[in-house]
Amino acid sequence: MDFKIQVAELKDLRHAEADALLLVVGEGSTPESLGKALGGALSAALKDGDLAYKAGRCLYLHGLGGVKAPRIVFAAAGGTSAKAFKAAVAAGLALLKGGGARHLTVASALPRAIDAAQAQALTAAVGDALYVYRHTKPSAPAASKLQRITLACGGAESTAAREGLQRGEAIAAGVALARECANRPGNHCTPSALADEARRLAKSHDLELEVLGRKEVEKLGMGCFLAVAQGSQQPLKFIVLQYKGAAKSAPPLVLVGKGITFDTGGISIKPAAEMDEMKFDMGGAASVLGTFRAVAQLKPKINLVGLIPACENMPSGSAVKPGDVVTSMSGQTVEILNTDAEGRLILCDALTYAERFKPAAVVDIATLTGACVVALGHHRSGLFSPDDALAGQLDEAGQAALDPCWRMPLDEEYDESLKSNFADMGNVGPRAGGAITAAMFLKRYTAKYPWAHLDIAGSAWKSGAAKGATGRPVPLLTQFVLDRAG
Ligand code: BES
Ligand code: MN
Ligand code: ZN
Repeated sequence: MDFKIQVAELKDLRHAEADALLLVVGEGSTPESLGKALGGALSAALKDGDLAYKAGRCLYLHGLGGVKAPRIVFAAAGGTSAKAFKAAVAAGLALLKGGGARHLTVASALPRAIDAAQAQALTAAVGDALYVYRHTKPSAPAASKLQRITLACGGAESTAAREGLQRGEAIAAGVALARECANRPGNHCTPSALADEARRLAKSHDLELEVLGRKEVEKLGMGCFLAVAQGSQQPLKFIVLQYKGAAKSAPPLVLVGKGITFDTGGISIKPAAEMDEMKFDMGGAASVLGTFRAVAQLKPKINLVGLIPACENMPSGSAVKPGDVVTSMSGQTVEILNTDAEGRLILCDALTYAERFKPAAVVDIATLTGACVVALGHHRSGLFSPDDALAGQLDEAGQAALDPCWRMPLDEEYDESLKSNFADMGNVGPRAGGAITAAMFLKRYTAKYPWAHLDIAGSAWKSGAAKGATGRPVPLLTQFVLDRAG
């Protein structure tokens, strides 16, 4: 990230040094408290119908007399929550970011003191607005000339604001890393490149890293992971990252990220339309890397393990075929009825590998099913867990970090459809309830620890004109790790 965010105690916005001022206003704002110039302009705009206290409404003013900053944006928030504050800042930034401003001061005229959550939300909005993908498009223009953002605070607010900015900045850097990894096309972001990215992260942030290759994976007996990887020319990688922030004896949290760097479907090949979007099929892996980036910066007192099985899912003469039966690391056999249900196959072996860490909890993150997109759209990630306490913690973390999920069921009735005449289980159920049967498949490998699964097929990336990775659920995961560290 090439911008800086800081807190400043500003008594009078008229004298702010910045060359742009973004003022979040809303129900309960008192124009009088903003001084004659700003307050007068706000009152007049409200009266003349050029602004309303309605979410998304903004007003841009240039060269207002009596105010040092040449650019002023009033951005209306639909309430005083961090979510409303973030939406208002995002709307204001959209107006300002393409202009000439280099230093922006953000201030709140909402009837509520700035708190840590709002400051954190500000960094998220700034990070989202200023990220530009360049890796294979070096000609892409900068999103903005903005380099410095100052959050104006009263003296009493500044401690909380600083804390929120610090957390928000680390999360924004993690989100940017996850977006960058996931945006890179399949010929650039190969399993080896993902391992290199993990290596860079481990070096720069003092993490422990081990990368296993095919030989070691064979020795471990990861028959399901090997079956998916066997159709590809790209060597598979099994990435093991460790952050050690607590005593050796403290059981770690384990994050497992699906790292399919391209999903053609394999022999059960996908239709051509929009197949390019399957480069995002390592979004779970990217979110694990991004979370480690954030956690390594914030240094909570906790032990964290990241596991990333990474490979391509390709059709070829050596590819796994529908009906093939393979043996997972757990010893359970799987009839691969559909080679396009490959995510659960690489995850199940990683989930068995996780046992060796005697984890306090394991959370896997995967762009697992199209069915989850049908169920929840692109807003909420699917959350599955038989453990109410763990599910509650993840749900709360998602709400707090403005990266929401929604709990889905795991009744044993859904398990029926995984029955196979030729193996302990098949790898697919019927179309109906497809996100749930995928989770039921994973559940069969998680008896030894508290476990949750996040299906991010809808939330990890956007299609259409804004096609690209979102970096989710790095905010949720980082918040969860921080909460667990206490
Ligand atoms: N990576 C896909 C899931 C996916 C689909 C993610 C669309 C994002 C958008 C996954 O590997 C897959 O192909 N799942 C199949 C499962 C089916 C064969 C049971 C699906 O969802 O169609
Ligand atoms: Mn697939
Ligand atoms: Zn996939």
